[in-house]
Amino acid sequence: MASLRLIPLLLSALLVAAQNEAPSASVAISATITAAASSTSSALPPPPTESTYYVIPISPVAFTPLPSPSNPGPIPGVFPSAVPNNPPPVSSDPTLVPDFAPAWTVAWEKAKAKIAGFTLEEKVNVTTGVGWMNGRCVGNIPPVYPIDGRGWPGLCLEDSPLGVRYTNFVTAFPAGINTAATWNRALIRLRGIYMGQEFVGKGVHVQLGPMMNLGKNAQGGRNWEGFGAEPFLAGEAAYETILGMQQSGVQACAKHYINNEQEFDRTQESSNVDDRTEHEIYGHPFMRSVMAGVASVMCSYNLINDTYACENDRTLNQILKYEYGFQGYIQSDWSATHSTMGATAGLDMTMPGDIAFGSNTSYFGYNLTQFVLNGTIQESRLDDMATRIVAAWYLLGQDAPTFPNVSFNAFYPLDPTQNENIDVMADHYTVVHDIGAASTILLKNVNNTLPLKGVRSIAMIGSDAGPDLRGPNGYTDRGGDDGVLAMGWGSGTDNFPWLISPLEAIQARARQDHTLVSWFLDDFDYAGVATAVQGQEMAIVFVNSDSGEGYITVDGNEGDRKNLTAWHGGDELILTVAANNNNTVVVVHSVGPLIIEPWVDHPNITAILWAGVPGQEVGNSLVSILYGVWNPTGRLPYTIAKNASDYPSQLILGGTPQDILSINYTQGLFIDYRWFDAQNITPRYEFGYGLSYSTFKYSNVEVTKVYNADDAYDAELIANWEAGKPNPLTVGSTTALWLHTPAYQVSFDVTNTGDYYGGEIPQLYVHFPPESGEPPQVLKGFTNMNLVPGETQRGTITLSRYSLSIWDIASQGWLKPSGTITFTVGASSRDPRLHGTFPL
Ligand SMILES: *[C@@H]1O[C@H](CO)[C@@H](O)[C@H](O)[C@H]1NC(C)=O
Ligand SMILES: *[C@@H]1O[C@H](CO)[C@@H](O)[C@H](O)[C@H]1NC(C)=O
Ligand SMILES: *[C@@H]1O[C@H](CO)[C@@H](O)[C@H](O)[C@H]1NC(C)=O
Ligand SMILES: *[C@@H]1O[C@H](CO)[C@@H](O)[C@H](O)[C@H]1NC(C)=O
Ligand SMILES: *[C@@H]1O[C@H](CO)[C@@H](O)[C@H](O)[C@H]1NC(C)=O
Ligand SMILES: *[C@@H]1O[C@H](CO)[C@@H](O)[C@H](O)[C@H]1NC(C)=O
Ligand SMILES: *[C@@H]1O[C@H](CO)[C@@H](O)[C@H](O)[C@H]1NC(C)=O
Ligand SMILES: *[C@@H]1O[C@H](CO)[C@@H](O)[C@H](O)[C@H]1NC(C)=O
Ligand SMILES: *[C@@H]1O[C@H](CO)[C@@H](O)[C@H](O)[C@H]1NC(C)=O
Ligand SMILES: *[C@@H]1O[C@H](CO)[C@@H](O)[C@H](O)[C@H]1NC(C)=O
Ligand SMILES: *[C@@H]1O[C@H](CO)[C@@H](O)[C@H](O)[C@H]1NC(C)=O
Ligand SMILES: *[C@@H]1O[C@H](CO)[C@@H](O)[C@H](O)[C@H]1NC(C)=O
Repeated sequence: MASLRLIPLLLSALLVAAQNEAPSASVAISATITAAASSTSSALPPPPTESTYYVIPISPVAFTPLPSPSNPGPIPGVFPSAVPNNPPPVSSDPTLVPDFAPAWTVAWEKAKAKIAGFTLEEKVNVTTGVGWMNGRCVGNIPPVYPIDGRGWPGLCLEDSPLGVRYTNFVTAFPAGINTAATWNRALIRLRGIYMGQEFVGKGVHVQLGPMMNLGKNAQGGRNWEGFGAEPFLAGEAAYETILGMQQSGVQACAKHYINNEQEFDRTQESSNVDDRTEHEIYGHPFMRSVMAGVASVMCSYNLINDTYACENDRTLNQILKYEYGFQGYIQSDWSATHSTMGATAGLDMTMPGDIAFGSNTSYFGYNLTQFVLNGTIQESRLDDMATRIVAAWYLLGQDAPTFPNVSFNAFYPLDPTQNENIDVMADHYTVVHDIGAASTILLKNVNNTLPLKGVRSIAMIGSDAGPDLRGPNGYTDRGGDDGVLAMGWGSGTDNFPWLISPLEAIQARARQDHTLVSWFLDDFDYAGVATAVQGQEMAIVFVNSDSGEGYITVDGNEGDRKNLTAWHGGDELILTVAANNNNTVVVVHSVGPLIIEPWVDHPNITAILWAGVPGQEVGNSLVSILYGVWNPTGRLPYTIAKNASDYPSQLILGGTPQDILSINYTQGLFIDYRWFDAQNITPRYEFGYGLSYSTFKYSNVEVTKVYNADDAYDAELIANWEAGKPNPLTVGSTTALWLHTPAYQVSFDVTNTGDYYGGEIPQLYVHFPPESGEPPQVLKGFTNMNLVPGETQRGTITLSRYSLSIWDIASQGWLKPSGTITFTVGASSRDPRLHGTFPL
């Protein structure tokens, strides 16, 4: 039995403070912004387009500031009054619902007092970025002078969702997609905490992440930045990430709000989405972000129903600020502002400030001042905008005199006068290593090929096994794919401090067992590959698939992936290896699903590891899995189909640059596994799937109704809900206490029936009655359990009334559909082990 490390679940591990080391010598890093790549449209039928889109007329708009959500006072133990630096402790079955409203109230009072001393121009400045490359960060809000007196120091906003972009001595954390693949709230929280420490350590106020778009299209270029194709899983990942980041004192930014699901023509496409789908699918992770006290939300490039996201009254004012009760500010994506009047639709800040990069013009700035002076936009709205921004700064305690000054220049990283090269990495590589292992999904393991046991010889095959000829940061914004893939490309990146390739890590480990290691990194010399693997006890073949943001094109992939096959002739490479070695292990580093039918069932392929894009310790993470230091617990955060056409949604391509593409979200609630289930399509590997080196048995399921002390307060709302009636729409009605407190608890036994210590991730799927219009099953809970062989533990998954509700368009509220609601608990979306019915 291999020695296996305990998966860290202790809160104490989360409280370790970062220790910033003294500034050290500067290193050369490349950091230039490349021009946008032009889009081509060859040989495609004309795409569906919109004839026009809505422009807010320039006319006076009344403004009424939104009141705070009318939640009751904090209820001890259930709805604790939380401040960002003291969130509820992480739990594998969260039952505490934090209430950030009191902390917002305090921050708002301070912000109002501060804003009261500002002139009109100064208030406008709080809302207006200084313009592209006119400050040290990718986004900058100018100071109000004197900074230490009545003024304010302004803000530094910096990419990315996985680390501090465009600077050095920072950690390259695993991508969002890997973070979600852990299904491990403790690791997700810890990554958030560590990222927050690094941003604060560099003097950044706002980290531009996490990203929570839903991978509606398997080919979506930025899917890897996000948390997969499941709203509940993405919501939990967003929630834990934000609690972690903000605990460390950086403002989180939930993005991209909303329906930004493809890179192609992202500024020229209208996502037409029905209200129920918006609430139940795409809105959910943002709603969870609001519940985590998120400081800011970024509106996206696209249009929703023919109205740009950054001037969409429905999504910004009505849903986010009113219905969710969001108290922070909405900032635009970079150049996603389309008018000054967007301010009346809910936009609070324009980024990077100029209309086009370097234009020296702005929709806010002088224009906003004029609109206020002539009464088109009320000054009370401007006050609200500035107050929200400054309140977020107070909420995170960024007024503390100890808050570090910005110590780098994102655009001139080699200028010694502007870069102090402060090392903020601490020992964060350890959690990168752990998440890399915890997010690696074991898809196939014939006859316990893995973990390795004293293997005599290994041949490592493929360019993805080794380092890149140009080094870890050789391509601007990681826009290239030559060696091991540990990150996609675009603004969602940072600089690798180092990049431990599989080849390096495996050789270091091989010494212990005196395993012979050979390699062949040429992907296309098939005769050479065949020779290299013959006679070796094991061949490990590495393939990958990359994607990124649309301003960089790599091998004809304009951000989005042009296909779902492995790069560098990966299928042919794998088949060549398997034809010549009867113990072939496939390792895939991919930003998302691939079609693996050409080789998945090959009898010589004895194991498949799906490793995603795990960050700087990619090789070390793999070694932990191969040798059983970490028993695989990763589970697929999306479905791997047998055919690309099986997915419910495809990219919309083509058209001219003037066209507004029309993208009707016709699949509605049926994205990813929900579609496969409803259409009876057999996937290759279903959502939630992943093997362990051990086996687990489930038994003794029980479901109980939870009675809370707070029930009395909202007795009427609860009685309505139980009677199948919707709750009334009010400020914060979707994030209200009675809807989210524990209402049902499902408990069950899990027994480790195998030979290895390891983790299991029980998943709970709710099955609504068919008349509800819901998909056959929807994920509403999961937990983590770690068991030694033979051990049985009782697991719990707690659900709220929200978990059992659907969005009712007519009443604009959440209601319990009539009929019987059942559930399954199991090891994946297609491996139910236990069944039960809710006592409604
Ligand atoms: C999208 O839906 C609208 C409204 O139902 C319809 O008019 C339009 O033709 C649809 N577009 C496409 C491309 O199907
Ligand atoms: C507003 O900010 C700009 C820089 O973006 C600065 O030049 C200007 O002086 C500021 N105005 C006021 C009134 O502070
Ligand atoms: C978009 O249009 C659909 C269909 O009319 C509607 O249900 C939905 O609420 C609209 N969403 C927005 C953001 O306007
Ligand atoms: C914007 O202003 C800068 C600095 O004054 C100037 O160098 C640049 O040419 C201006 N750009 C345009 C498009 O006017
Ligand atoms: C004001 O906005 C208009 C677009 O509505 C733009 O053309 C103009 O340059 C802006 N003015 C300034 C001073 O930025
Ligand atoms: C207010 O100023 C803006 C920007 O100059 C202009 O577009 C708008 O028509 C003005 N409105 C009135 C009522 O003067
Ligand atoms: C930030 O810079 C100012 C001005 O140089 C200095 O007074 C202040 O102490 C610095 N703050 C920190 C936390 O180092
Ligand atoms: C797996 O084990 C079975 C039963 O011992 C054997 O028949 C089969 O050949 C083995 N497969 C591989 C790939 O070793
Ligand atoms: C899919 O795209 C990759 C990356 O551009 C390319 O290497 C591969 O040849 C493409 N596959 C097919 C079947 O066209
Ligand atoms: C499996 O590998 C062996 C070499 O070990 C080879 O002889 C055999 O043809 C391979 N099987 C297939 C189906 O390719
Ligand atoms: C795999 O090939 C080796 C020789 O390379 C042989 O010893 C072994 O029995 C084969 N295993 C199977 C399952 O065929
Ligand atoms: C995938 O589906 C498409 C469209 O249904 C079909 O034409 C194609 O043959 C399928 N490919 C495979 C490998 O089954």
